[in-house]
Amino acid sequence: MLAKTPPMGWNSWNTFGTNINEQLIIETADVMANEGFLEAGYEYLVIDDCWSLRERDENGLLVADPEKFPHGMKYVADYVHSKGLKFGMYSCAGIWTCAGYPSSFDHEYLDAQTFADWGVDFLKYDFCNFPATADCKHRYHRMSMALKATGRDILFSACNWGVEEPWKWMKSIGAHMYRSTGDIRDNYESFKEIALSQLDNLPYSSSGSFNDPDMLVVGMYGKGNVGFGGCTDEEYQTHFALWCMFGVPLMMGGDMRDMSEASRKLLLNKDLIAINQDEECRAPVVIRQTGDPFIQNNCVLFRHLSNGEFALAFFNFNEESEYAVETYGFSFDDIGIPFECGYGLELTDVFTGENMGVKREAFIPPVKAHSCKVYRGKLVKVDEKA
Ligand code: DGJ
Repeated sequence: MLAKTPPMGWNSWNTFGTNINEQLIIETADVMANEGFLEAGYEYLVIDDCWSLRERDENGLLVADPEKFPHGMKYVADYVHSKGLKFGMYSCAGIWTCAGYPSSFDHEYLDAQTFADWGVDFLKYDFCNFPATADCKHRYHRMSMALKATGRDILFSACNWGVEEPWKWMKSIGAHMYRSTGDIRDNYESFKEIALSQLDNLPYSSSGSFNDPDMLVVGMYGKGNVGFGGCTDEEYQTHFALWCMFGVPLMMGGDMRDMSEASRKLLLNKDLIAINQDEECRAPVVIRQTGDPFIQNNCVLFRHLSNGEFALAFFNFNEESEYAVETYGFSFDDIGIPFECGYGLELTDVFTGENMGVKREAFIPPVKAHSCKVYRGKLVKVDEKA
């Protein structure tokens, strides 16, 4: 089964945009395979827009730009596979891609076969220049069927930016993930806005077909194609923790050859990845403050994991430096653990590894603005005498 848990990998767009080539892909594959990323679960290496020539060939086939990819795409795919990774490519449901390259409208079966012939394992399918008279659901379904017809296992990453509420129908047409937002930018406001806009969609996500709030900007620090301002390391932690608590795809977007130590450590955080990849693929329970303008949007996410475990995360989306739990409008009763039940959660901080002991109603973690706390734990009987 494809996408049993949220797909993980790397995509060229966020940092490199049009500036892609064979050498970049080879070097990125090397880092992913040799420096622990593949082992951590990041298995798909995906080339986004701008990889082809501006025209199809005389047979109507898409052609890799020979200046960027001098040995052709099969060569790149073979190299990526030789490192144990899977290879992803990009096309678009419209007439041209967003950057103006030929795309797959009315060429769905031909292009799907081209991708399969090259050894592609993942197709990201964008939504630019889509004819006004065409039907979005129908065209995404057609490409899904064209991929199936190749007989190759190709993960279908539909990218129609939330148009026509894709969370309600993309799973049924065979998509393994579906973009539910506009494009992310490398700054705090962008990922915050995206995250808050997704809270109601998350329950639609399930094993085999995931809500996709766009790729990660961790480690970009304002450099590259979507680098509008950059984030601090603490903000990247918040971004990554949100995507992990959401249980959505983790597609890295930074320059893998030049990753800061802090970002590398974050992207490889085993506990956060384990929460993201939990086999039960349950959406988090969301406890969100909406009334008071000073604290609105703060939220607590609580996620049921397999083996009787749970994840509990606190996010401070405000500009005030610290808030106590009660200002989130949160109590353990909101997550089904009233004080009088005699149970608490034995928690471990996933960033520091610190065992916090057993926590219940009175647990109040201070959380700085733009920051978060994330814990993993089990339900335990409280020793009243302790
Ligand atoms: C729009 C998508 O949302 C982005 O992720 C990226 O694929 C660009 N198009 C490429 O043009």
